[in-house]
Amino acid sequence: MPSAFAPGKCILFGEHAVVFGHPAVAVAIDQGVRVSVEESEMWKLEGASFDPSRHPHISHIIQNIFQYSGPPLDIDVNSSLFSAAGMGSSAALSNAFGAAMYSYLNPDEEIDAVKLAKIAHSAEATAQKGRASPTDTATSALGGCVVVSGSEVPGTRHVFDTSLETPEGSREWSINTVDIPQGVGDAWLVIGYSGTGSPTGRMVAKVAKLISEVPERMEEMEAIANITRAGLAALSAGNLDALGMAMDACHESLRKLEVSTIKLDQMVNAARPHSLGAKITGAGGGGCMVALTHDPNRVSEAIEVAGGRPLMTRLGAQGVRLQHL
Ligand code: PMV
Repeated sequence: MPSAFAPGKCILFGEHAVVFGHPAVAVAIDQGVRVSVEESEMWKLEGASFDPSRHPHISHIIQNIFQYSGPPLDIDVNSSLFSAAGMGSSAALSNAFGAAMYSYLNPDEEIDAVKLAKIAHSAEATAQKGRASPTDTATSALGGCVVVSGSEVPGTRHVFDTSLETPEGSREWSINTVDIPQGVGDAWLVIGYSGTGSPTGRMVAKVAKLISEVPERMEEMEAIANITRAGLAALSAGNLDALGMAMDACHESLRKLEVSTIKLDQMVNAARPHSLGAKITGAGGGGCMVALTHDPNRVSEAIEVAGGRPLMTRLGAQGVRLQHL
């Protein structure tokens, strides 16, 4: 039975600033989405009848990407990610389903991760009214550490460029990767879910409104861009202390952009005594925070005491992969 696993993601630096063309740094995480497909008498998703209008990512891949007209399929989905929480669950679903379908239709062929990243990005864009950054889909497809930017980023390996026609005009991104040195690979991330969803579109609009009302806040985007560059240099050099400091600094800038919440701040503060650094990850307004630590059990306990739900992961899991069941 063709089956594929695609990891979720965690943004280390650059959320919100990436909307203004600055770089964002994300790592693939151990948790993700597994999808398998099997021929069946009728179309099914997770054991129930499949309604394409309710699952735009999946129906886009079936109809527009593969133009599939074969026998009905039974699609099984298994996720270890919190959904709508900034962990890239819809991107992981799109990548895993795209890979499983590709493998079903081309059983003897390897999958090209870049091709898959583009398929998944188009599925995300279709499902989100033509607006989607390629950060989640590229990180889930390629794995490791991915840097997304409006232009090439020094010190990174350029992998591909991608563009999208959005309701606001054409947008272009450069997708790059960075190797994760051994020392960083030995540390842990603990992601803490606040229990409420992260409304990405609403938070991006809120930041845009804040900047139009208080133009000085645009300085915070430059500050995040500088922190991102410093954090990326620390990560590449395997300097965990500097990496953690940059995460702390990024959180302060995101707070000034008013995207944190009391709950997220409480979780960040609870994690910090046992961490190298801690911050919101993703759009904010809910969703998750993340801490970098050598003591993931202590940090998980602290996050639980602050009312969050923790997940432990290493940094930079392998990208989408086929699994033979
Ligand atoms: O959807 P999230 O929570 O992973 O956040 C996305 C990051 C933003 O910069 C806020 C939005 C974007 O499109 O890059």
